[in-house]
Amino acid sequence: MNSGDYNCGSQRGQITVGVENRKVRQAYSFCDPAVAPSEMTKPSVFEFATLTDPNEEVRLRDILCQSFRLPTDYWDGYVERIGRANFRILRRAGRLVGGLAIYRMGQWFGGRCLNDAGIAAVGIAPEDRSAGAAAHLMTATLAELYEQGVAMSVLYASTQRLYRRVGYEQAGSRYQYQLPLASIGLNERSVPLHRIDGTEHEAYHEVARARAKVTNGNLERNAAMWERVVTYPYGDKNVYRYLLGAPDRPEGYLFFYQDAKQPGPYHLYVRDMVALSPAAARSLWTFFSDHRAMAETVFWCGPAVEPLLLLPSELMAQVISHERWMLRMVDLRKALRERGYRAGVEGEIHFEVEDDVVPQNNGRFVLTVLDGFGHVRDGGRGDIKAHVRGVSPLFSGFMSPVQLQATGQIEANDQAIAAATSIFAGPPPWMPDMF
Ligand SMILES: CC(C)(COP(=O)(O)OP(=O)(O)OC[C@H]1O[C@@H](n2cnc3c(N)ncnc32)[C@H](O)[C@@H]1OP(=O)(O)O)[C@@H](O)C(=O)NCCC(=O)NCCS
Repeated sequence: MNSGDYNCGSQRGQITVGVENRKVRQAYSFCDPAVAPSEMTKPSVFEFATLTDPNEEVRLRDILCQSFRLPTDYWDGYVERIGRANFRILRRAGRLVGGLAIYRMGQWFGGRCLNDAGIAAVGIAPEDRSAGAAAHLMTATLAELYEQGVAMSVLYASTQRLYRRVGYEQAGSRYQYQLPLASIGLNERSVPLHRIDGTEHEAYHEVARARAKVTNGNLERNAAMWERVVTYPYGDKNVYRYLLGAPDRPEGYLFFYQDAKQPGPYHLYVRDMVALSPAAARSLWTFFSDHRAMAETVFWCGPAVEPLLLLPSELMAQVISHERWMLRMVDLRKALRERGYRAGVEGEIHFEVEDDVVPQNNGRFVLTVLDGFGHVRDGGRGDIKAHVRGVSPLFSGFMSPVQLQATGQIEANDQAIAAATSIFAGPPPWMPDMF
């Protein structure tokens, strides 16, 4: 659906901005666990830094454009959106070998928004690959994020092995669906749609938050990410923007563009849509159906089990792609304290966590959940044993504790499995965004 960004997944999406002016200059040596064995005897082979030197920026541009098969004239707009201060680079023996970009944003779990860093544009020059550079870059980035108080990090991976190596694991999904407009069969217009001309997006934020609070994994977009949703950043396409319901009390929104591969019937491509009430959802489907004289299909991104598909009269939707995003608990104790938990759920879990990249996460601690809040104290019995990777799909609710036990991600006794099942149960995590 989208094209033209340095994201890692098989599809491409929007990009953002954020400001982090802290200067980072850190050397990693043989004591760094991400160092390949062959590098162990060379102290400080890699140097991690921010992007300040214009010559290095040109080299980073060339490496990333080559790595992601993009024209170099794409770079200026990309840097503007991400913010130059949000790039990190890696040098080897003083020569820049690669870099990455950090999206400053939030992510919602259990009804609360946590400080999250999205990682994109991880690229190493082809001639410098397979020497541990990307693992170093990621390790150094995670150390910096921990120091900045970031709770989690999320990304779409082109290769899981690299990101698993530094503690990420699958923790949520993004499905792309298509549905023939002729199969909708609804005729309800009780919630009017109001066309919005401007690209201001503030009016939509609370609507998006209302959706985010009742599911898991949705992003709290920053301004640049919102701009990418309410416009079409990759070319000359008109994005149509609608608010559903009374403008002072919106019940949803819809952003979409129209496209066709050839002259004739076209298709509707949703950049994002929300319906906060049953009537709004039926009105939204009716609005799509009202395009059926000239348009054939609507495409959108949603959760693995899409509740909106309960409404059309026929189940003619097809999944045309799906992605799984990966999550990394950067400050695990902080994340467990700051996420929300379902009302009425009480319990205690004794964890023992191993983390060879962010050592602060190591060790035993106890999570106590009461009145929707999590409290963490050090110590305990270590009833659930896991590498920090295994905690990501547990935390997000992507996999049940039984599934994680069955696949070897966690080890636990029956009592701990029962407590974790109750504490982390929730809507399956997903996000409509690709970055
Ligand atoms: C993917 C990329 C960043 C890896 O960089 P690199 O410096 O060669 O990676 P490293 O040497 O640090 O490898 C770290 C780990 O990832 C694994 N790995 C690296 N590239 C891999 C690949 N393409 N497929 C599978 N595993 C890979 C390594 O085997 C190593 O695992 P190990 O420690 O368990 O043996 C680099 O190939 C690249 O720039 N590719 C093009 C752009 C891209 O795909 N970026 C990632 C976007 S999400």
